[in-house]
Amino acid sequence: MPISAAEPLLAVRAVESGYGKIRVLHGVDLTIAAGEVVALLGPNGAGKTTLLRAVSGLLPVNAGEVHFAGRDITRITPRDAARAGLVHVIEGHRVFTQMSVTDNLLLAGYDLPRAERAVRIEQALSLFPEIAAKRRERGGALSGGQQQMLTVAQGLVRRPRLLMLDEPSAGLSPVLVDRVLNVIGQLRQQGTAVLLVEQLLEKALAAADRVYALVQGHIVLQAKTGESDLPHRLELAYFGHESHAQAAG
Ligand SMILES: Nc1ncnc2c1ncn2[C@@H]1O[C@H](COP(=O)(O)OP(=O)(O)O)[C@@H](O)[C@H]1O
Ligand SMILES: [Mg+2]
Repeated sequence: MPISAAEPLLAVRAVESGYGKIRVLHGVDLTIAAGEVVALLGPNGAGKTTLLRAVSGLLPVNAGEVHFAGRDITRITPRDAARAGLVHVIEGHRVFTQMSVTDNLLLAGYDLPRAERAVRIEQALSLFPEIAAKRRERGGALSGGQQQMLTVAQGLVRRPRLLMLDEPSAGLSPVLVDRVLNVIGQLRQQGTAVLLVEQLLEKALAAADRVYALVQGHIVLQAKTGESDLPHRLELAYFGHESHAQAAG
């Protein structure tokens, strides 16, 4: 479905979500344009993972709306979201260590026609030469960083218009973090939008066009990553919340 230039690819409006009676997101607004790379930052427990779950249909949205590519997806299932081009690589996703790299990728595209699936796997692997070279090896034979690259490649087999990555660099050495995040630059060149949750502030700012800070389920700051003084402003946004919480407690 064609969308107008003014309309964002993803629009999250006043979304509330959580776990049973525990409300985690308190009216979150967030937009992503087609081809845009957006970083979602915030302290541990802020609700970043919860927001991604609510957007991709893994968690029910209690209030507000989610629109994707001109369509209301507020109550979509994760499977239908992925079919619509909204792919969520979940936090801490693990590959199947006993299966080959290729079989892990075939599984990610389980419902695609054979020939189409083969083409997409080659395209996904072209972004990750070092795992392409190990395609016949078991997932467990890959290093930790390579396994994380494989989870991203699995997402790419779905050929997303928006790829949501929840801490893809968690636990990696700085060199491997760069290699994983480098792929985001290549995706941007291909016109794929990315929503990146990342703990490393400077890495996130380098990879993204725009940034949102989420604190205790509220968006407290949004900015273009080129704006001056951004690391300091983000720090203040985090502290503002902390002193407020202490005063309230
Ligand atoms: N399955 C769950 N059941 C109940 N509470 C949860 C669950 N998962 C996360 N939470 C709570 O929701 C809040 C936000 O968590 P999360 O979205 O994982 O934060 P982040 O990804 O920003 O670190 C935290 O207070 C966390 O304890
Ligand atoms: Mg998280």
